[in-house]
Amino acid sequence: MNNVNLESAVKQRYAAAAATHEPALCCAVDYDREHLRHIPEEVIRKDYGCGDPSRYLKSGETVLDLGSGSGKICFIAAQVVGPQGKVIGIDMTDEMLDVARRNAPIVAQRLGFANVEFRKGRIQDLALDLERLDQELKKRPITDAASFLAADEMAQELRGRHPLVASASIDVVVSNCVLNLVQPDCKRHLFAEIFRVLRNGGRAVISDIVSDEPVPEHLQRDPKLWSGCISGALTEDGFVQAFADAGFYGMQILKRDDRPWRVVEGIEFRSVTIAAYKSERGPGLERKQAVIYLGPFKEVLDGNTPTQSGQCCDAGGCG
Ligand SMILES: C[S@@+](CC[C@H](N)C(=O)[O-])C[C@H]1O[C@@H](n2cnc3c(N)ncnc32)[C@H](O)[C@@H]1O
Repeated sequence: MNNVNLESAVKQRYAAAAATHEPALCCAVDYDREHLRHIPEEVIRKDYGCGDPSRYLKSGETVLDLGSGSGKICFIAAQVVGPQGKVIGIDMTDEMLDVARRNAPIVAQRLGFANVEFRKGRIQDLALDLERLDQELKKRPITDAASFLAADEMAQELRGRHPLVASASIDVVVSNCVLNLVQPDCKRHLFAEIFRVLRNGGRAVISDIVSDEPVPEHLQRDPKLWSGCISGALTEDGFVQAFADAGFYGMQILKRDDRPWRVVEGIEFRSVTIAAYKSERGPGLERKQAVIYLGPFKEVLDGNTPTQSGQCCDAGGCG
């Protein structure tokens, strides 16, 4: 199974799950009941999450939800950030976007303010607005190799001139059970995109499924296990490392389920919620150096923390 087939399998599975609830795709999550009260039943029923990153948001923040599905996390986040904040959901599956978009005005009416919008895109390519690309392709359809290459150039131009999500425009990127679904070759780019769209000092708070050992290739080639949020999982260490490789610092496991959600061929798959930070001063600060403190410890203060001698300790300086 190649990358393209994996993505099609994911799209087909979630298009079907947008029409009829698929119980195999969800983990039990304890969302705040007060927030759920304002969300239509259809959205709650089509919940395919594995954690709750919305618990770590603050009033007034601009939030980007990757793989927003029926919109549940966006509608919860809308309430946490309030009318001064803003929430953008991204999804690539039309049927999921339809569910989220038709419920957005209902939520807005119940809350008394509208601060959520849904955009169509692939989360590993947050610059490309797929609905804008659709419009352009209607004007200039692909009919041969030359028009295929021209379309590729046009997509590149759209990324620059009308990005789906602009660089440094987001306070918090959240996601609930989606990063694992992105094809292996695109995962590095996915983390780089999360880093790009965050403002300096912004953070990612991601709930996802991780494994306790690497997933063997034969499981990765199984489209059902892949689209079921299992075989695309990174290992727990690999997940943290992917943030570090993209330039994040201060990775923190906020929640980790002791009990695995699934065990396949002896490999445990469980939900974790992790936070990772983009430096206040931008990517230049990190110089690809990092320190991992293994603990256990009572308290850790990260980045530029005055040491006992009163000197400043930045990443790489106090190994
Ligand atoms: C497991 S569901 C999670 C939905 C939602 N976050 C929730 O908590 O219910 C995965 C969602 O991510 C979307 N998705 C998967 N891969 C994607 C990608 N590469 N780009 C954009 N959306 C993607 C699917 O269409 C689906 O709506």
